[in-house]
Amino acid sequence: MDKTEKIWLNGKLVNWEDAKVHVLAHALNYGTGVFEGIRVYHTPKGPAIFRLKDHVQRMLDGCKMMGFDLEFDGKKYGFEEICAAIKETVRANGDAVDYVKPCVFLSGEEVGLNPIGVPVSMAITCVHMGNYLGEGSKAGAKLITSSWHRPDNLCGPAGAKVNGAYITSTLAKREAVRQGASEAVMLNSVGHVAECTGENIFIYRHGRILTPPASESILEGITRNSIIQVARDMGYEVVEIEISRFMLASATEVWMTGTAAEIAPVTCIDNRPVGNGEIGPVATAIHARFHDIVTGKVPEYESWIDYIN
Ligand SMILES: Cc1ncc(COP(=O)(O)O)c(C=O)c1O
Repeated sequence: MDKTEKIWLNGKLVNWEDAKVHVLAHALNYGTGVFEGIRVYHTPKGPAIFRLKDHVQRMLDGCKMMGFDLEFDGKKYGFEEICAAIKETVRANGDAVDYVKPCVFLSGEEVGLNPIGVPVSMAITCVHMGNYLGEGSKAGAKLITSSWHRPDNLCGPAGAKVNGAYITSTLAKREAVRQGASEAVMLNSVGHVAECTGENIFIYRHGRILTPPASESILEGITRNSIIQVARDMGYEVVEIEISRFMLASATEVWMTGTAAEIAPVTCIDNRPVGNGEIGPVATAIHARFHDIVTGKVPEYESWIDYIN
């Protein structure tokens, strides 16, 4: 990750170094925040944000769940104001920006779990991320099955990107990297394949594309949603269905989807090759189509693109 110049904090653009919180900030101690990860792409009409409105809506849904009110410097922030603030921050940071991370969090200094009345802050940070899973994964990512389970819908709002919930993802990611893999797939509390640490998962098996449904305690990824639609538009049959470890191990193709990782084909899981161990034709075709869509080359999907200028 490369840092940028300005961070939007509570209504103002401040220098990167000046975007600070207190060590007793509630969010730092108890994970009380909601965040998003959003990609910026270069298109023939200039820089553009992919599915900005869907990301902002998911963040607002998370804030509603957590009981956060968004008012900074006497101004209330709703859907339109947040979209405008994100665009303003991208504009202020120049051409290298490819990833935006808005975060709403309890910044007030407080000891104790009661979140009611603790002051809320919002920060919007832009970075240059590049290839999230590293250059090595371009030839196919290696996965392990994590010993950590994806937290269940009953342990927290699995459909919201709540900061504290990411502890499990960081434990699973550490486990993967320590074993020489780039990602970990997490099973849910009943042992079905749920998702990876920051990506949803798709498999291609017996001529159909399969992915776990929202009821399997996954984050309802915006890239996942895009790929379901794009793959159907390309003529593939896509089914949201429970996936067992056996189905995963015997799939012809596997790929992950996420804003940071984009479409990342998987060629090895738990030291077993996926299919013939090479990136397959379905993932390749979908990846190419997705790339054209996010870079503004496919008019049918223009509504997913928000131009910065
Ligand atoms: C746990 C988890 N699953 C899946 C995803 C993919 O979601 P999206 O495509 O909206 O980035 C993410 C990334 O935000 C994530 O953190």
